[in-house]
Amino acid sequence: MLDLRSKFPDYYQYHGRNISKKLSLSNVRILNGHYSKYSLDKKILNISSKVSTEQLLQSTLFKKIIIEVGFGDGEYLIKSALSNPEVLFVGSEVYVNGVAKVLKQILEHDIKNIRLCGMNFVWLLNILSQNSIDELKIINPDPWHKKRHFKRRLINLKNIIKISKIMKKKYASYITTDSESYFNYINEIFSSNSNIIHENKSKILSKSDKLYGVSRYQRKAIKNGKKIYQLTF
Ligand SMILES: C[S@@+](CC[C@H](N)C(=O)[O-])C[C@H]1O[C@@H](n2cnc3c(N)ncnc32)[C@H](O)[C@@H]1O
Repeated sequence: MLDLRSKFPDYYQYHGRNISKKLSLSNVRILNGHYSKYSLDKKILNISSKVSTEQLLQSTLFKKIIIEVGFGDGEYLIKSALSNPEVLFVGSEVYVNGVAKVLKQILEHDIKNIRLCGMNFVWLLNILSQNSIDELKIINPDPWHKKRHFKRRLINLKNIIKISKIMKKKYASYITTDSESYFNYINEIFSSNSNIIHENKSKILSKSDKLYGVSRYQRKAIKNGKKIYQLTF
């Protein structure tokens, strides 16, 4: 992964943190020794003609395909994969330390139903086939609070349209955020483009909801008195 990142920087480009602290030698070894077995990156780089999602993910043995975008340290991704072995989970994350953490867990538990993409998610999004994904989750995308940084937000009109196209069904894409400003921003995109995007549902999560408190980031926000908003489209 580290070699691909330096050879193809455009694919891994992201405005936030890519590596927050120096990678430990053990993480470098894990990434160099095992990342390619679980990763889609080389395949994405080598795609010259149209390839189906099934070919890309080698997913024929699985009942469903679920994508988690920006899995952070992978707590929810690993838990989901361990408790649903019949489902193939695709984890997308640009933060190298997070990818190394997940890879460690994959090896430790011999997990066979995770594929990883360390590139900026848009590269994966661009090559997935229409109507090929069962569920997609974006749990607390980076909020980019400052107005001049809104253009960095992962959720924008272009990406919502692309996500809608790759999904098999309506209301199977979930976004949660602790940022009221991001929540309003996404709602605004939906309401001003109702002619091209199907309607979304939104709510404030409570303890009984599946995506409530699923990550350290989210638990910290809850502890600080923040609401967790969910949009489903
Ligand atoms: C605020 S963190 C939340 C992480 C995790 N979902 C959680 O709740 O703890 C957002 C994560 O999304 C990742 N991310 C942001 N934009 C991305 C992109 N375009 N492609 C892949 N990952 C992305 C960041 O690296 C970061 O780890």
